[in-house]
Amino acid sequence: MEDLNKFSKRIIVTGGAGFIGSNLLHYFVKKYPEYLWINVDGLTYAGNLENLKDIENEPNYVFVHTNIRSNVDFLYTTLFKRYEVTDVMHLAAESHVDRSMVNPTLFVETNVMGTLNLLNAAKEYWKENYSEHRFLNFSTDEIYGHLTSVDEPAFNESTPLSPRSPYATSKAAQTMFGYTYFNAYGVPVINTSCGNIIGPYQFPEKLVPLTIDRLIHGEEVPVYGKGEQRRDWTAVSDVCKAVDVIFHKGKVGEMYCIGGDGECSNIEMINAIIDALLEIRFTKEGEHKRWILSPLPIWKNKYKKLIKFIKDPRGNAHDFRYDIDHSKLTNELGWNPEYTFKQNVKETVQWYLDNQEWVEHCKSGEYKDWINKYYGE
Ligand code: NAD
Ligand code: DAU
Repeated sequence: MEDLNKFSKRIIVTGGAGFIGSNLLHYFVKKYPEYLWINVDGLTYAGNLENLKDIENEPNYVFVHTNIRSNVDFLYTTLFKRYEVTDVMHLAAESHVDRSMVNPTLFVETNVMGTLNLLNAAKEYWKENYSEHRFLNFSTDEIYGHLTSVDEPAFNESTPLSPRSPYATSKAAQTMFGYTYFNAYGVPVINTSCGNIIGPYQFPEKLVPLTIDRLIHGEEVPVYGKGEQRRDWTAVSDVCKAVDVIFHKGKVGEMYCIGGDGECSNIEMINAIIDALLEIRFTKEGEHKRWILSPLPIWKNKYKKLIKFIKDPRGNAHDFRYDIDHSKLTNELGWNPEYTFKQNVKETVQWYLDNQEWVEHCKSGEYKDWINKYYGE
């Protein structure tokens, strides 16, 4: 391996082949050539090295195929000691709520035990000088449970933890271990909690990429219940900037909430996607001729007809509403989301239209099995 000391920091990003991890790596590898970026990923169904094609040969990037559920000695030797790791951004996780309803054990093994393994390796490797390091523990607003009405104030860093799905409970345990390792041992953990994120490279099992893909192919869009649940949507590029300031300026032992000021119901999100799709297709040169054959209202109607309300597979575990108050991050570290909701949705739709080949690659055997089992053939 090259001279590690030429890099002022050597940072592990776990889950770097997933949605947020790969966006972070694109952002950081270019912005900080003086740091070595070590992508540690076990490549589950959600991990995809295709996401990183354009940075894979950069001299400050390396990929290490590793399962975070491996034993601590292995992680210590093959990662921390081998790369003289200075910092960790921990994103690797089982991240899909629906899958957690079917297999909660896997979520505990990865999200809780995997995190504990990394915390133990960091605790041992950095024990002489915790103050020089950072362990960013990436959590979610779902740890706070749900808001039961539209009037309830948004979650913030002081909201008590009250998770309601197996995924959320595993993330709450991950978060509490973060706090605990700081309190009990001084391991320099910073927790973050973020609402729903969208943008390039999101696996097409989540609401937004699934909806876009289904509309493009004229397939039904499954809406759980009446589509009244509400989420706060943030652009992934805004999240990258938030992580940047938290990592460089955040205080260890603290939690920072990240939100996009983009709250809406699921059905409003689906309608926003339809509007964006129509706007792009009817104004884009080249496509215009083909689409103009049928007038816009007819297409709008065609898309709307694809919306299919189904029995809620999450049942009582389906959280009604999340909203995030990010004022601590804004007031203390100067971060604000730059994307408007409309711009976020439109750019995301555009990316999926431009990258249909990437989506097709994701829709492999495993994806098909999951979709067929969960939604029926
Ligand atoms: P993702 O499912 O797209 O990616 C997860 C990545 O982790 C994949 O590359 C996968 O291969 C890897 N991974 C899973 N298990 C592993 C293991 N045992 N060992 C090594 N690698 C493993 O997830 P995402 O949406 O990018 O989420 C990243 C993190 O952000 C997660 O911790 C998630 O809980 C959190 N989060 C996500 C959102 C969101 O809206 N997507 C919002 C808030 C928080
Ligand atoms: O809030 C942060 C969380 O956001 C992250 O921690 C999770 O990792 C991430 O997956 C996301 O969880 P959600 O459950 O909110 O996201 P999802 O895209 O799966 O669903 C969004 C909403 O849309 C939710 O109310 C369920 C609904 N839904 C979802 C799917 C996949 C549908 O109505 N139909 C669908 O087919």
